[in-house]
Amino acid sequence: MQIKIESAPVEELSLDALAVICFESNEDPPHLLARQNGWLDEILTSGEFSGKLYEIAILHRPQGIAAKRLVIIGGGKRATFSSMEARRVAGSLVRGLKTKGVHSVALLLRQADGPFISAVVEGAILGDWEADKYKSDPKKNDKRIDTFALSVDGGMTPEAQLALEQGRVIGEAQNLTRDLVNEPSNKLVPADLAAAARSMASSYDLACEVLDTEAMGKLGMGALLGVAQGSSNEPFFIVIRYQPADRSGKQLGKPAGSDHLALIGKGVTFDTGGLSIKPSEGMERMKYDMAGAAAVIGAMRAIAQLKPAIPVTAYIPTVENMINGNAQRPGDIVTALSGKTIEVLNTDAEGRLILADALTYANRNGATHIVDAATLTGAIGVALGHHNMGAFTNNETFLAKFMAAARSAGEKAWQLPMDEEYKDYLKSAFADLPNIGGRYGGSITAAWFLREFADPTPWVHLDIASTAWLDEGKAWLSKGPSGVAMRSFVQLAIDWTSSS
Ligand code: BES
Ligand code: ZN
Ligand code: ZN
Repeated sequence: MQIKIESAPVEELSLDALAVICFESNEDPPHLLARQNGWLDEILTSGEFSGKLYEIAILHRPQGIAAKRLVIIGGGKRATFSSMEARRVAGSLVRGLKTKGVHSVALLLRQADGPFISAVVEGAILGDWEADKYKSDPKKNDKRIDTFALSVDGGMTPEAQLALEQGRVIGEAQNLTRDLVNEPSNKLVPADLAAAARSMASSYDLACEVLDTEAMGKLGMGALLGVAQGSSNEPFFIVIRYQPADRSGKQLGKPAGSDHLALIGKGVTFDTGGLSIKPSEGMERMKYDMAGAAAVIGAMRAIAQLKPAIPVTAYIPTVENMINGNAQRPGDIVTALSGKTIEVLNTDAEGRLILADALTYANRNGATHIVDAATLTGAIGVALGHHNMGAFTNNETFLAKFMAAARSAGEKAWQLPMDEEYKDYLKSAFADLPNIGGRYGGSITAAWFLREFADPTPWVHLDIASTAWLDEGKAWLSKGPSGVAMRSFVQLAIDWTSSS
């Protein structure tokens, strides 16, 4: 999809469609609508269109404009319309029009600062993506938008161009995340995830190092290897490094002091549950148990392109949680890289085991701040539904910084408590800690388990189990992988201000 900012007068754009946003209040409708012989009034009174978010109405052969169609799209309440809604409006427009024979569209934007332009570009690129890679007749062949133009007051300025480029980088990186998550588990085993990380890193000049079973064994990553031992697909530990420096070796942007951000992503390419096997219903969805890893890989690509001032290192433990004759048993005790012993009471709580070793490894390799994303617990969906990632921390200041980044990236996260009392749910009679707590507060005990390996480094954990996969498509996003957490990671790095 070609995306551009259009400086020509909107009336003159000869495209398949020209789109304008209409709000519920219908105050101050775009002037183009006044010329359409009362069309707007008619569809408002008939109830065909009310301005509700993402509603679409199409007028063919509009008066006084060169475009073939005039499209109005609902913006909801004007007072609460932000770049979050703008991103979704752009996505809904692309998704709503691509099935209707429209190949080129311009969106008229009256409010268009940098963040708005970036959000609209992201939304359009995300709306373009379909989970149809394995369909013999993919939708994208003929039913797609080839040109998406933004018609903004003031036309093309250097700021607008920069915002467009940033939106493109982020939108495309999020689609890379979605591509990876969408791969079925027979096409993407840990070795494939490592290959994808390597190829991304070499295309974008990032250093990439991949540890194999032998290397992990020497280091003592017993928690990760315990999960992997039930699969004939070898596990890997992927490290991707971004180092900010211009050609003369100086840092770009605001100096990050001695800060060093670590991004960790859970990379379970398939989660059967192991011997604590999952019910067959819905097990096919467990291909998305590497969505945290995919978010980190997408984020590293965008970071390589946008070049924030802070060094960022990605750590991705990747395994398959399977059952063969060598599979880990409930009751097994493993020794994590940190030296702590873990009683594996449930082999389905595997994410925290591989993340434990990743957290220790990040800590030993100079991370001053850590964020992890993991499809960690079903319980997070019970607590928060599908609209917010669960956020946990050992450091409120760092969490505030993360939340601000998530907000400006248009991703929703909600903090859950980590009072010391919850830690008591993790008691093992035979090892330092068990890998599960009791029946209640499952997402919190999972976070406390991770915290035992993250402390004392400032750390934010995101449980994305209920947000990384959409069972139903949205107006602005297709069914399937959402690519969540990736934009927050990138924004956090871009907005970084030194903490030292
Ligand atoms: N990958 C799952 C969590 C999950 C559940 C992700 C649903 C996406 C959708 C994780 O490894 C898991 O199985 N967690 C268990 C933990 C339990 C055994 C303490 C769970 O949530 O049931
Ligand atoms: Zn599991
Ligand atoms: Zn899992």
